[in-house]
Amino acid sequence: MSGTGTSPPDEGAGEPVEEGVDLAGIALRNPVLTASGTFGYGTEFAPFLDLEKIGGFVAKSLTLEPRFGNPPPRIGETPSGMLNAISIENVGVRAFLEEKLPALPDGVVVIASAFGTEPAQYAELASRVCEHPKIAGIEINASCPHVKAGGIEFGQDPRLLGELVATVRRATSGPLLIKLSPNVTRIAEMAKICESEGADGLSLINAVQAMEVDVEARRPVLSNVLGGLSGPAIRPIALRMVWQVAQAVDIPVCGIGGITDAEDAVKFMLCGASAVQVGTTNYLDPAAAERIARGIADYARRHGFARVADLTGALETD
Ligand SMILES: Cc1cc2nc3c(=O)[nH]c(=O)nc-3n(C[C@H](O)[C@H](O)[C@H](O)COP(=O)(O)O)c2cc1C
Repeated sequence: MSGTGTSPPDEGAGEPVEEGVDLAGIALRNPVLTASGTFGYGTEFAPFLDLEKIGGFVAKSLTLEPRFGNPPPRIGETPSGMLNAISIENVGVRAFLEEKLPALPDGVVVIASAFGTEPAQYAELASRVCEHPKIAGIEINASCPHVKAGGIEFGQDPRLLGELVATVRRATSGPLLIKLSPNVTRIAEMAKICESEGADGLSLINAVQAMEVDVEARRPVLSNVLGGLSGPAIRPIALRMVWQVAQAVDIPVCGIGGITDAEDAVKFMLCGASAVQVGTTNYLDPAAAERIARGIADYARRHGFARVADLTGALETD
């Protein structure tokens, strides 16, 4: 599949817009992917949208062995947001490769997501997964905010993050995206470390570390106490970070955080994102990614952009 999608013009609305974009060497039909952990293994969403009409999807983060997450309650609702502490519950790499991937149509762009507690685990996952012909690339989850070990430990420590990226880079030559944590003081520094250790692109942001309290029960809402906040509540934080990172590195950025409609997605692209991921919104509207992709093309056409890719970094700041 190649990034050659075009959208037909509305009557009298000018030329068709080229919708295809390149993300870290992955040709996408349009810039809208769905975010890891919010879109299952793809097949769950097939009744709601045409998987081959979205840019692609990032599968649930995988571990080498199947993994059970935290006990319930592990999700909660907050103002304009969602709190979760699922903790990387997943089927494991073998079942993913042998059962989940073959169930997907050939034209779907699938990016795998890897999680581990040691760089060597991420590297083994990357080398096993990237060999599969249906896998377009891998995203390294260096940012899960609510597991006891791994994830955020890497994303918050510049030395560990560099070691992780270098180790995975040695294990695969396929497109390598690193998913950054917002739970850091200087996001641009973390981004530069990933770039210098060989990452092909960056995805940001993962959920913001947060908690909520049930006052009647005098207990935390989540069994894990701490969780990750996602949804529209985090969008301005995500936009700020995408903007800062896009200024700091030359590799492409995939913008994530609270995207609900095309206008939100365009904001990320104007701030420097080459593509975007839709997460929490999938729970409210499982066809959101397709709707958002159409809306971005429409925005580009209305604003005289021949290519959706030309929106990237087109923010006027003076
Ligand atoms: C229920 C849930 C599970 C998630 N699981 C993962 C995961 O397995 N791996 C990962 O990298 N991010 C995971 N995320 C984070 C999302 O991919 C995304 O980065 C975050 O939710 C922010 O985007 P959003 O505001 O559009 O949801 C999860 C988010 C939610 C809400």
